Amino acid sequence: MRFGILGTGRITRRLVADLQSTPGVQVTAIASRDAERAAWYAQQYGVATGLCGYQALLDAADVDAVYIALPPSLHAQWAIAAAAAGKHLLCEKPLATNHADALAIAEACRAGGVRWLDATGWLHHRRTAAFSERAHDGELGKLRHISTAVSFFEPFQSGDHRLVASLGGGCLLDLGWYAVGLPIWFAGQPQAVMASGIYQQDVLYRVTAMLWFDHDVTATVSCGYDTTTRKWFEVAGDSGSIVCDDFTRSWAERKPRFWTHDRTGSAQAHEFEDHQEQHMIQSFVDKSIDLSPWQRQALLTQQTLDAMLRSIASGQRETLDVKELSS
Ligand SMILES: NC(=O)c1ccc[n+]([C@@H]2O[C@H](COP(=O)([O-])OP(=O)(O)OC[C@H]3O[C@@H](n4cnc5c(N)ncnc54)[C@H](OP(=O)(O)O)[C@@H]3O)[C@@H](O)[C@H]2O)c1
Repeated sequence: MRFGILGTGRITRRLVADLQSTPGVQVTAIASRDAERAAWYAQQYGVATGLCGYQALLDAADVDAVYIALPPSLHAQWAIAAAAAGKHLLCEKPLATNHADALAIAEACRAGGVRWLDATGWLHHRRTAAFSERAHDGELGKLRHISTAVSFFEPFQSGDHRLVASLGGGCLLDLGWYAVGLPIWFAGQPQAVMASGIYQQDVLYRVTAMLWFDHDVTATVSCGYDTTTRKWFEVAGDSGSIVCDDFTRSWAERKPRFWTHDRTGSAQAHEFEDHQEQHMIQSFVDKSIDLSPWQRQALLTQQTLDAMLRSIASGQRETLDVKELSS
């Protein structure tokens, strides 16, 4: 699959190497709003073509798939344009800034006959499959409560899109995508949410929430830009738990890890090496792999984030409309 990249920011720097090192993948073009920047990054990354303007990349005949690495408010517009141009779509998280736009992306891809996936790496780590097996094979007993926290402390440069509301900034879309996605991965569709938010500079800086699921499963979620780096969860059943302190990405110089606890408190440590982004790209390009479980996860996460925003505004518990769900 020949990829074109939209945007030259921080995450592109990381993912371009992951794309180029995945068997069966080539990066043939990169596009920027600025011609000089496009040419400079193309040369830096060893990409044949640097294009000025995103539409030029969608018009390129030697591009089969696009990787969208733009601020969140631009995802829907360019994802829908990519699908209309017949390009497969790997889109950075959050998929969109709201559920209606996420559904519009899914529908455009269906109509265009192209594959789509949000670039949420942890879902593709081998360890995540191991979490699911342990949670569902009875080792934890009956699932009861899930806790997650994802945060970091203000590493912002001036003009960072994460501090600009009109670009889809704020911690809920950015880090809440992970923190809320985690309980959804284990417990499925939430029935209701209650959230509170603290704003700074017009964007959400910290969000604390509770989620209710079927079968009396509950979750508490925290994300923010004013708290130290956290990327942990605990999934607790009535006879055991899984604890992981690096689920979004392993700590530098450390192997990905987690612990299982039984009801007596006896703990076992586990390590699991994998390259989650390469695994994600492999699943995306292998047309025999069904992407619908991840697509459903993305749409549910987006719908839940919408409900949390409503709850922050209303101060009330908000229910999710099951009929709105799309798989
Ligand atoms: N999966 C992950 O681990 C991960 C990590 C970080 C970020 N992300 C996600 O990736 C996306 C991009 O994040 P990033 O941190 O790479 O962003 P970034 O450094 O701000 O880069 C975004 C790029 O988008 C382009 N752009 C177009 N219109 C823009 C505008 N009005 N303002 C700013 N940039 C604009 C720019 O490239 P040109 O001007 O050259 O076109 C810019 O370099 C976000 O959705 C973010 O949540 C994912």
